[in-house]
Amino acid sequence: MSELAHGTLAGLAEIADTGRDARRGGYSRHLWQKADLELRAWFAERAGRLGLSVETDRNGNLWAWWGEPGPDAVVTGSHLDSVPGGGAYDGPLGVVSALEAVARLQASGFTPSRPYAVLVFAEEEGSRFGIACLGSRLLTGGIDADRARALVDADGITLADAARRAGLDPAHLGADPNALARIGLFIELHVEQGRGLVDLGRPVAVASSILAHGRWRLTVTGQGNHAGATLMGDRRDPLVAAARAIVAVQEEALKHPGARATVGRLEVVPGGTNVIASSVHAWLDARAHSDAATRDLVSAIEAAASAAVAVNGCSVAVTGESWTGTVTFDPDLVGRFRAVLGGDALIPALPTGAGHDAGVLAASVPSAMLFVRNPTGVSHSPEEFAEVADCVAGIDALEILLRSLL
Ligand code: GLV
Ligand code: MN
Ligand code: MN
Repeated sequence: MSELAHGTLAGLAEIADTGRDARRGGYSRHLWQKADLELRAWFAERAGRLGLSVETDRNGNLWAWWGEPGPDAVVTGSHLDSVPGGGAYDGPLGVVSALEAVARLQASGFTPSRPYAVLVFAEEEGSRFGIACLGSRLLTGGIDADRARALVDADGITLADAARRAGLDPAHLGADPNALARIGLFIELHVEQGRGLVDLGRPVAVASSILAHGRWRLTVTGQGNHAGATLMGDRRDPLVAAARAIVAVQEEALKHPGARATVGRLEVVPGGTNVIASSVHAWLDARAHSDAATRDLVSAIEAAASAAVAVNGCSVAVTGESWTGTVTFDPDLVGRFRAVLGGDALIPALPTGAGHDAGVLAASVPSAMLFVRNPTGVSHSPEEFAEVADCVAGIDALEILLRSLL
């Protein structure tokens, strides 16, 4: 990150040591835990230096206003939380770019003619409480407030308790129509998670759509027992059964063209070396080109996983945890942005398989995204990367859009 220490991306350099994960590599920055609190303080200080007034809404999202808050505000931003062991760019690049765009506009003497805010969403990755885009779902009413309050983290702390400890009133978590009504247009700049821009040889794109996606919990139940005293033929081992189910997930996804299905997290209960587990939770992330195709994929996975675990005398229960239908960004807005940024030949419109707060907001307010080239396409990994020149091209694009909108 040292190449970022000077110039436009200094913001990324300033947070380069916050939330580093020595065990996993990369960053683990989870809602209202130490790193996230430090990043929130950093954001408030950074925005304050630009003369923006920072507020925390009732769901823990941070807003930094240039001038009076809303209505019909142009709002740009992203998130500062990460997946476990994530990269430096997913989220922070959008926040740093939004602040940098303000700094540039101010330095040139520009005065906005409509309200503007930088918005940092809480818990975009769902790494602490399991629901992706939690802050934007709460803001828009996309998740029931009682259900949200009851979510628990890995230590059994409820979202309600965590919110209270963070200084929020948990009774006020949930749909915030007044805050939402201030947004006239939302723009999220993000590192590309894929190789679309590399293949096209361009540094910046406008997003066209997001795959339907969701999360499901597969709970495989067997018989907990003694590792030494239980004959191999007498076991109902849910971890062996879960292994078969995970293979079934891959096989079913391969039968659905373009679909993606992943089990990236397991919890073995009770989890002892000399203990045959009694149950295993496996979290499934499934995505496909339409809502129906994604639902079909998950139904096929459920059937295949049931058959797979039965081989070991186990059963599986599948519970939905979060869902985001296909997002098609407003084609008129996409077209207008591409035109302002130099035309279709220079600015591609790209679909993505990654979820974003902009996708959640798109159901409520006009929303758009800018993607910055990622030379390997790798994301949700410490290897996630973008060249400084491409990040600067992204900020240039954001600045041009803001000048045309404000
Ligand atoms: C968020 O990055 C997601 O796509 O899960
Ligand atoms: Mn992400
Ligand atoms: Mn992101």
